[in-house]
Amino acid sequence: MNSFKKIPVESLEINPFERIGKNWMLITAKKGDQVNTMTASWGGLGTMWNKNVAFIVVRPQRYTKEFIDASTSFSLSFFGKEHVKELAYCGKVSGRDENKIEKCNFSVAEENNTPYIEQANLVMICKKIFMQPYSAESFLDFHIMDFYEKKDFHTLYIAEIESILTK
Ligand SMILES: Cc1cc2nc3c(=O)[nH]c(=O)nc-3n(C[C@H](O)[C@H](O)[C@H](O)COP(=O)(O)O)c2cc1C
Repeated sequence: MNSFKKIPVESLEINPFERIGKNWMLITAKKGDQVNTMTASWGGLGTMWNKNVAFIVVRPQRYTKEFIDASTSFSLSFFGKEHVKELAYCGKVSGRDENKIEKCNFSVAEENNTPYIEQANLVMICKKIFMQPYSAESFLDFHIMDFYEKKDFHTLYIAEIESILTK
């Protein structure tokens, strides 16, 4: 039994710039009976089509992308400072080469058939509603292209936040 409690999505009080941009998160998804996770620090929270949404961006070469694409949902797991090493590791090593979840001594739990990392202190269960790969002609600030020397444009995923679990 874990100690998460579900809170209403609209009662969430966090600073997204800090929690996503500075402290990072793990994006976790499942494909069949396999689960993979990766660190992300780009994304956001807001309102779209009158829904509470999270958006994430994932480069095509990420193994986790195969899991996100194979599933109707993914989770975002947020951690305390004590797990910064594990998040750095999950942002450097690919699940193609190692079982990162085991290596970090993390364990996976599920909410509504969506895997998340139990050691987190905040989890968002997200149902995919939109995806679109970024394309070169959509960039208005060409300096941003410096992020894409290999033309490996992110795919944007917008997902409805179905539930929020906190400790
Ligand atoms: C702090 C940090 C933030 C990252 N943010 C993203 C991101 O938002 N999108 C992305 O595609 N990759 C991001 N990455 C890179 C992936 O986490 C990294 O390539 C990871 O090893 C992919 O693992 P996978 O191949 O198992 O999916 C980030 C890495 C770090 C260290």
